[in-house]
Amino acid sequence: MNGNLRLALQKKGRLTDKSLELLRLCGMDIENYSERLVVTARNFPLDILFLRDDDIPEYVRDGVADVGIVGEDVIYEKQIPSIIIEKLGFGRCSLMLAYPENRELKKLEDIVGKTIATTYPKILKDFLKSKSLDAKIIELSGSVEIAPSLGVADLICDIVSTGNTLMMNKLKKSFKVFDSEAVLISANSSLKDENKNKYLTDLRRRMRSVMTARSSKYLMMNIPKDSLIKIIEIIPSLKSPTVLHLAEENMLAVHAVIPSDSFWQIIGDLKAAGASGILLLPIENLIQ
Ligand code: PRP
Ligand code: ZN
Repeated sequence: MNGNLRLALQKKGRLTDKSLELLRLCGMDIENYSERLVVTARNFPLDILFLRDDDIPEYVRDGVADVGIVGEDVIYEKQIPSIIIEKLGFGRCSLMLAYPENRELKKLEDIVGKTIATTYPKILKDFLKSKSLDAKIIELSGSVEIAPSLGVADLICDIVSTGNTLMMNKLKKSFKVFDSEAVLISANSSLKDENKNKYLTDLRRRMRSVMTARSSKYLMMNIPKDSLIKIIEIIPSLKSPTVLHLAEENMLAVHAVIPSDSFWQIIGDLKAAGASGILLLPIENLIQ
């Protein structure tokens, strides 16, 4: 062991690229991932272990990895005690019931007596129990989407993200069973090794800064001097906006950090208040 913080990531799947992208935005200089099991960051004491996502909670519990990035779906399904130390805001998906396009499933009760194939038997069982519904669960280890066409099951219960997998297999999504996103997990609230704990605190601070920056934009515009109060009322800025003088006497420049999703709601009001030359820029990091 080299004393580096060991982070487990999904080897190949929905979360792999986005996890690496997050780490790179956190300033980690990571070699292009190929088929290697472990990659070490060049500028941070971090080893990345590439594993099957279903195995990550177990490896974190056993101390093979100190922390891991995995979907909430896997944590719930595996029932291995772990602590979610950071919600990461990507990898959002839903575990859903889906059925062949040429069949009908009008209400949830229609699944009674049917056979459902899934790699999430625990979550599905709990869901059926909570709705007092009785259906037969067939546990598969993968390729659930082909079960109906093979005649193995009437329905499936699987992760839907973009919906491409369902579409390609002529399946329609219906009822939602569980919502999930990527999270950072650890076996305990703090790591035993003091140095690793420091690295983890640093990494988490960087992750939070990237996440805040992602949901924020930098807004710049010019406004007539006399509409400043009105403009300030319209902008849901994190802090009070920066106001700068312009060469033109009765004009001001206003800069503010705003939540990304609010821009299109306030643009009309800003223009009505006389704002012009409006620029909206991405933010790479935002440290609070
Ligand atoms: C899930 C699921 C589908 C795919 C759905 O796999 O099993 O294959 O994602 O995504 P889509 O709606 O965007 O097509 P996952 O990445 O979790 O890999 P795993 O099944 O190997 O864990
Ligand atoms: Zn998996």
